[in-house]
Amino acid sequence: MKCTKIVWLSLCVVLACSRQAGTSVGSCPEVEARVDKLLSQMTLAEKIGQMNQVSAGGDVAHYAEALRKGQIGSILNEVDPDKINEFQRLAVEESRLGIPLLVGRDVIHGFHTIFPIPLGLAATFDPALAEQGARVAAVEATAQGVRWTFSPMLDIARDPRWGRIAEGSGEDPFLDARMAEAMVRGYQGSVLDSTSMAACIKHFVGYGAAEGGRDYNSTYITERELRNVYLPPFEAAVKAGALTLMTSFNDNDGVPSTGNRFILRDILRDEWGFDGMVVTDWNSMGEMISHGFGTDRKDVAEKAANAGVDMDMMTFGFLSHLEELVKGGAVKEKTIDDAVRNILRVKCLLGLFEHPYTDAGAAKAVQYAPDHLAAAQKSAEESAILLKNSGVLPLRDGARILVTGPLADAPHDQLGTWVFDGEKEHSVTPLKALEARFPDRIDYVQGLQYSRQKRERFDDVTAAARRADVVLAFLGEEAILSGEAHSLADLNLKGSQSELLAALKAVGKPVVAVVMAGRPLTIERDLANCDALLYAFHPGTMGGPALAALLSGDVNPSGKAPVTFLRTAGQAPLYYNHHMTGRPYNGETLLDDIGLEAGQTSLGNTSYYLDYGAYPLFPFGFGLSYTSFAYSDLALDKETYGVEDTIRVRFTLSNTGAREGTEVVQLYVRDLVGSVTRPVKELKAFRRETLQAGESRTIELSLPVSELAFYGLDMVKKVEPGDFQLWVAGDSASGEPLSFKVK
Ligand code: GLC
Repeated sequence: MKCTKIVWLSLCVVLACSRQAGTSVGSCPEVEARVDKLLSQMTLAEKIGQMNQVSAGGDVAHYAEALRKGQIGSILNEVDPDKINEFQRLAVEESRLGIPLLVGRDVIHGFHTIFPIPLGLAATFDPALAEQGARVAAVEATAQGVRWTFSPMLDIARDPRWGRIAEGSGEDPFLDARMAEAMVRGYQGSVLDSTSMAACIKHFVGYGAAEGGRDYNSTYITERELRNVYLPPFEAAVKAGALTLMTSFNDNDGVPSTGNRFILRDILRDEWGFDGMVVTDWNSMGEMISHGFGTDRKDVAEKAANAGVDMDMMTFGFLSHLEELVKGGAVKEKTIDDAVRNILRVKCLLGLFEHPYTDAGAAKAVQYAPDHLAAAQKSAEESAILLKNSGVLPLRDGARILVTGPLADAPHDQLGTWVFDGEKEHSVTPLKALEARFPDRIDYVQGLQYSRQKRERFDDVTAAARRADVVLAFLGEEAILSGEAHSLADLNLKGSQSELLAALKAVGKPVVAVVMAGRPLTIERDLANCDALLYAFHPGTMGGPALAALLSGDVNPSGKAPVTFLRTAGQAPLYYNHHMTGRPYNGETLLDDIGLEAGQTSLGNTSYYLDYGAYPLFPFGFGLSYTSFAYSDLALDKETYGVEDTIRVRFTLSNTGAREGTEVVQLYVRDLVGSVTRPVKELKAFRRETLQAGESRTIELSLPVSELAFYGLDMVKKVEPGDFQLWVAGDSASGEPLSFKVK
């Protein structure tokens, strides 16, 4: 036994494969040779053991026997470095072949240092910053022995009732893809080394389209919509070199993703050439029984294996039934070999065979490093969206400030959803940061202890408001009110928060609302009761200093909406890149305009709500600044382009205000006529541009015509010649279009 192990370890020691981002490991023949060599030594039982993942927090001894038998290929939910080393020691030194474990964890927006929730990170429109944050998370997590994160989440979300909208990059495929590529690069590193953490792009696919915004619900996404909207971010992340992928809970068009051969083999493997590893979501294999897609655990194990799943998270279907299924011929051993090859490849690329252990003593030193906290603060600063400002912001020095609201001093909740290892003790809350920024100027009266609390009167708060020059009300939702399984039908501020804001407004002092939430809440009525509103999502460990910097004007807000802000939940789903329909809304009559006994009519009517129209409160891409920007002199370099051409659009961006600011310039395109109907706009480029007060800059954005390709009636991806429109603006609802043709 020892001999086999030494042979294998030596085989990997010479492994010099550095996996560059965007390359498939097939370009690493040494890895393939060594994986095949090990595979040839494995029994069927040992192969199946690699396909089994166990949530193994805490009691190592409980798993010792299974580890010695090689029945566990991966564990999740253990982060103590000494325990991880013990798990690894049992696998590496007490099993026959000594194959190390792949240790996974949900490191979703930071490990110990917590960054803004992914929806907030998307609001930065700053992939480089997201990459930096992922790198920080990888350095902290790998120091403790975690070498696999179940992130980034790429689910396009067009319905804020869905609690997991918090975990993704919003409604747009282009922004989602750019953030996904960046996070894959950040987690894995440009060259795989001991700080590399395998990314896991999830949840494949369409999970965010859950009907009604109810988590885990069915989806009904056509193949064309999959290919034009939901799949592109995953394809981009695969191209960026993502090592693993996770299947989603939902059934789409009647087929649960964990048993969906079309997406897992035809698209993922055959079309995209993905050679990473596919893991199920937690018991999503077993849930196929509940879906009514399988009769029992053996049946769903067969379906998952043949559909293309490599590793089973917490159903134990593979461990319990695959050997029997192979011996009975229902699953070919080649299928098992392919799955195990994908698993061993990831372990080999991460260097786990030569370095299975972590230096537990060194783990603590990297946690919360100053540069990590600085990166988290910068991310929080850039993720906040200024939605309203009547001039009360930035706060003037010397002002007496009342701080109030349930989220003003909530160190746990400002971290947001999916935070397993962030520690609230390290959070700096807005209250603490404002007290430091404005010494002796801050009054604090909480008003409400939590978002859902109900109160009749607010005499204590309004009395304090009368003594203040300006009021800062920190409102929103606790971290637990978004995230997995936490969908909401009503998106208004909970409890008596709106009443608190109204009471404060009635005092007559300027009121600034700062909203922390995991989703775009419906805040239309609250906007009337504040003079400024800053939307902070859940900003993470350094949310306080970031918000103090923004409110004081030390930093100018630059965040832009990565998702549409609804006027009311009844408008969901509402998103900017919708189709035109035959009767596009034109702002016509609403409920109050309809006379009594009005006759039946439908002529001239359009697609909208009698009571809320069809426009959002704030459109995708919207965000204000303490300065202002103007776009002028837009011009295309041609009027007509060939498919091989690149469109170049030039324009002048001017900072027309009195201070430096950053604008996210956005380029949208519309394909006017296609073999199938097309979105009214699609984001095709964006860039952050920082200009001094009064500065004007000529900017050129380029767009290869090939980026206009889509899956048309024949389900072939191509550019269709015809007429197009192009906008460059500061959000998806602004600007005048330029026209061009593709021949
Ligand atoms: C959860 C989530 C998934 C997560 C996994 C492991 O149910 O759906 O995103 O990575 O289980 O915690």
